[in-house]
Amino acid sequence: MSESLVCIRCSRELAPSAIQCDCGGLLEIRRPPLTVPRSRFDERRASRRTIDQSGVWRFREGVLSASEAQIITHPEGSTRLYERGGIWFKHEGENPTGSFKDRGMTVAITQAVRIGARAVACASTGNTSASLAAYAAQAGLRAVVFVPLGKVAAGKLAQTLAYGALCLQIRGDFDAAMRLVREASSRLGLYLVNSINPFRIEGQKTIVWELLQDLAWEPPDWIVVPAGNLGNTSAFGKALVEAREAGWIDRLPRIAAIQAHGANPFYRGFREHFARRHRIEAETVASAIRIGDPVSWERAAAAIRATDGVVEEVTDAELMAAKRDIDRMGIGCEPASAATLAGVRKLNLTGRVVCVLTGNLLKDTDAIPGEVVEIDPDIDAVERALRETRAGGQ
Ligand code: F0G
Repeated sequence: MSESLVCIRCSRELAPSAIQCDCGGLLEIRRPPLTVPRSRFDERRASRRTIDQSGVWRFREGVLSASEAQIITHPEGSTRLYERGGIWFKHEGENPTGSFKDRGMTVAITQAVRIGARAVACASTGNTSASLAAYAAQAGLRAVVFVPLGKVAAGKLAQTLAYGALCLQIRGDFDAAMRLVREASSRLGLYLVNSINPFRIEGQKTIVWELLQDLAWEPPDWIVVPAGNLGNTSAFGKALVEAREAGWIDRLPRIAAIQAHGANPFYRGFREHFARRHRIEAETVASAIRIGDPVSWERAAAAIRATDGVVEEVTDAELMAAKRDIDRMGIGCEPASAATLAGVRKLNLTGRVVCVLTGNLLKDTDAIPGEVVEIDPDIDAVERALRETRAGGQ
């Protein structure tokens, strides 16, 4: 294959099945500079072939050099870009399993099949597990997911079970589940497809490439993303640098990575110019990003540096106020995704701003305020309900 797997710490090249280097460093996929013109992607967007309809595999030269027969695609991606009140929202909740994870998962599962893996595994706050379970089902692979007990939204767990994954609920938090799955994958031969897996990053880059394409390749000033385990932040930086190298864009947008105040190790690191790595015990209403020890730290720090990016934190109250506004725009998203708009407000960002909404509204219905009015089946009751709720603005 034309890609190579390289350790970002010691520069060693590793086998295609490797997840991490012996030195502890994260892996990155490198390939010769991309020569494909961006017009090719515009042609493919109009094509009816499944591989071109996928918003991931449309960019295949920059994703993975798999043969078409090897590719496990739903298809995914090709999500909409909405403009509301002068801000753009790229809605990754429109992916097949309702979150951006499908973009990385189609690549990781394709790679799992290519290296002959029998079983795939991840730790998850719910979205990765749902995506993994769906793609493993499609590929006919055994799926094992490690989730923190009592900390995953019910719908995400239901998806994971429906697609047939073995669900291990860990008596501990996400970070404990992550440590355990890493150990299990090296000892028990499970192929790990968390975003520590560099093939996941290759797929997630296409969020950025597709949004650049949506904007007719005129780069925005800011791309705003919620930050948890830091896979997306890493992928966005890599995507932007590669897009500029390929001549698809002539300047880099800046990345703004937004964390919840109670799960803010990366924000703490940013404030100290990433002088050291922070690990905390995480707590936030946004369960998807309740992560205290993110695995992709080094790659994400490189992404922030490369794009002159920033990291901000928002409180749960700020994040939920932003969620209410995104919901009331008729778009909707899960709480973690709303960290983006809360971050735009906190940072007072101006210019052309794209918020990446990472998960669907229905992913986490516990977090939706508002009340349903119960009435008898008669018209007077309807009239009363309309009168009484008008004051509440419903
Ligand atoms: N938004 C949503 C909806 C997520 O599910 C996640 C991560 C993030 C943002 C953060 O992205 O980890 O790349 O920084 N969810 C993972 C999971 C951890 O298991 O589903 P990140």
